[in-house]
Amino acid sequence: MGTTDARLAAMAPSSELHALIEPHAQQFAARFGPGARPRLFFSPGRVNLMGAHLDYSGGPVMPMALDRGTFVAIRARDDGRLTLASTLEGEVYCGALTALPAAALGRWFDYPLGVIVHLLQEAPAAAGFDLLFGGNLPIGAGLSSSASICVGTAHAVRALWGRPAGPQASIQSALWGERNWVGVQCGIMDPFAVALSRPGHVLWIDCRDERSEHLPFDTEELLIAVADSGVRRELAKGDFNRRVSECREVFALLRSRAPEARVLCDVPAALVEASAQELGPLLLRRARHVMGEVARTHEARAALLAGDHARFGRCVSATHASLRDLYEVSVPELDCLAEAAQAFPGVLGARLTGAGFGGCVVVVLTRAARAGLGEHLEREFERRFGRRPAVFFFRGSGGPCELA
Ligand code: GLA
Repeated sequence: MGTTDARLAAMAPSSELHALIEPHAQQFAARFGPGARPRLFFSPGRVNLMGAHLDYSGGPVMPMALDRGTFVAIRARDDGRLTLASTLEGEVYCGALTALPAAALGRWFDYPLGVIVHLLQEAPAAAGFDLLFGGNLPIGAGLSSSASICVGTAHAVRALWGRPAGPQASIQSALWGERNWVGVQCGIMDPFAVALSRPGHVLWIDCRDERSEHLPFDTEELLIAVADSGVRRELAKGDFNRRVSECREVFALLRSRAPEARVLCDVPAALVEASAQELGPLLLRRARHVMGEVARTHEARAALLAGDHARFGRCVSATHASLRDLYEVSVPELDCLAEAAQAFPGVLGARLTGAGFGGCVVVVLTRAARAGLGEHLEREFERRFGRRPAVFFFRGSGGPCELA
């Protein structure tokens, strides 16, 4: 799909989701043969606007679900077997539900398999099934394709098995799958954002006690764009887990002097500064990002609630600088896109989204800046890296849903 086509597809309103997902039902029939029509589900991706790398340190985060995500087509079969296929991947998983592998296999289907293993721990399976994934979300680009697949799998399989399908049940299975099966020590933000978002709102999650709230996001005035650097780093999982353990190390070093603190984000910033020697330069940089980001995320919330969009945008851009200089999860391609976006008239703020090390930059812009931004980013990026990035404009979305 060309960049312009991709941009137009991203603009499809949710009422057009049916039209987008219908070809997926046809692909299911082509792959698994005729029979009952499969049940169809959509599960969104997400961007994180504020609270970068705070969820696993118990801080506040502000993600938003996207109107792009994962399509799931599922149909029961009567032999107790399970097939997991995808229109975006070549490998297919086939096996009996009673004889699933004992550990992850290092393939794309580890994500749904982990969720299914968790669902089977809860109660034995009701029926086997064929399941076809697809969708219109760039994979591995920091838009939470993995949480989108995991929450979508939990939602669809629970529905097929006649189990209650509330968001919390899907969140727990998604988290278990990613942490215990795939082995990424991720925080709670992504499955929460995928499962609990509402259109026209940003989700505020206090990751210390897992409380969430919907904050109005002025979609009349503000738009979200995403520019994909195309950089996919194989080592991202290891780099991400390293940041998680660095934060644990900082908290272990400081907690005896902050007896009130339950999580790293509770530690007073002054204590971090007073402990500079003991932390050493690397842990000090990580801790300074965390302290600064907690303060910025509260400021961004106040700005959003006060309708001060310019201030909200400045917080978003300051987050990028902190991720680049202190948390060190950016790459030159992301810096180029963030700087080019920040310099464009009508753009309020831009930062890398997701874990970093590649993937996408998210841009908060006024409607007036819509015309020309995509071309500007493509031009600036191409001048430096000799290829064009994909640029998408998004509407927000609600959580996973079944399409009749
Ligand atoms: C990844 C993780 C999230 C979060 C972000 C960084 O997306 O899965 O839990 O830590 O990185 O904010």
